[in-house]
Formats: sequence, C-alpha cells, structure tokens
Amino acid sequence: MKILVLNGPNLSRLGKREPAIYGSETLCEIEERLKKTAAENGVELVCLQSEVEGEMVQMIHRHADFDGLILNAAAYTHTSVALRDAISAVGIEAVEVHISNIYKREEFRHHSYLSAVCVGGIFGLGSRGYDLALEYFLAKKKAE
Ligand code: DQA
Repeated sequence: MKILVLNGPNLSRLGKREPAIYGSETLCEIEERLKKTAAENGVELVCLQSEVEGEMVQMIHRHADFDGLILNAAAYTHTSVALRDAISAVGIEAVEVHISNIYKREEFRHHSYLSAVCVGGIFGLGSRGYDLALEYFLAKKKAE
C-alpha cells in the first residue's frame, strides 16, 4: 500500500505559525511520526508540501497510482476547484485533514471545495488528525 501525505500553503511553518491554533509541532515532526507508523505497518508513505496550487495538482497527478491521499490543502481547501478536479481526475481515495476546527473559525473557512470528492474528513483534532487518517488506510489494508 502506498499513501501520499500532501500539505498545502503555510503548513511548512507549523510550530512557528499561530501555535494557539495549529499547535507547537513542526511539519517535520508530524511527518516523521507518520512515516514511523507507516513503516511499522509495511506501508510506503510519501510526504510532500507545497505553497503553490499548481504544484499540488502536479503532485497528485504524479501519485495517481497510490492507494490513498491524506490531504491538508490549507487555504486552497476554500478556493481550489483545480485541486478538487485533480482528486477526481486521478480517482485516488482522499481523506481531508484540518488541524483546526474550520467550522469554529471565520465563515470563509466553513466551505471546502474538496470534501465532496473525499471519502471523509477530520478537523479540529490537531495534528492527531493525520494519524487518524493514516489509521483509516491501515485498517483498510488489514481488512483486505
Ligand atoms: C487549515 C485550515 C485552513 O482554513 C487554513 O487556511 C490552513 C490550515 C488547518 O489545518 O486547520 O492553512 O487547513
């Protein structure tokens, strides 16, 4: 099983960025933890991050043969038809993750262009959301 973890703009600054909202863990620390869990379970995990919408679209295309996508598209969640179309175009099973509870925040964060093309989503549980998304795929693998 191969899983892509893709993070969008400004998530490279986790740890420094608004810690009251996003916590004190860095993206590197989160990715290391996910890679460890994946390795323990015989799963290939690739972690990518980009500040650029088009690059994220390309990253999804390049991993079209992967079994799953854990996606925190950050601000592009609320704006990007291109990312939504990329998920549909490759037909990858995607889980949408948000560290913060987007529904408790500004109204412009309440709408996601991506949710409708994702199998499900996790929001408001901090960085643990990524682990839970990975757990979803691990459980699927075990059930196969
Ligand atoms: C976020 C929520 C988005 O609204 C925001 O633009 C982000 C991070 C989250 O993980 O809580 O950059 O996706």
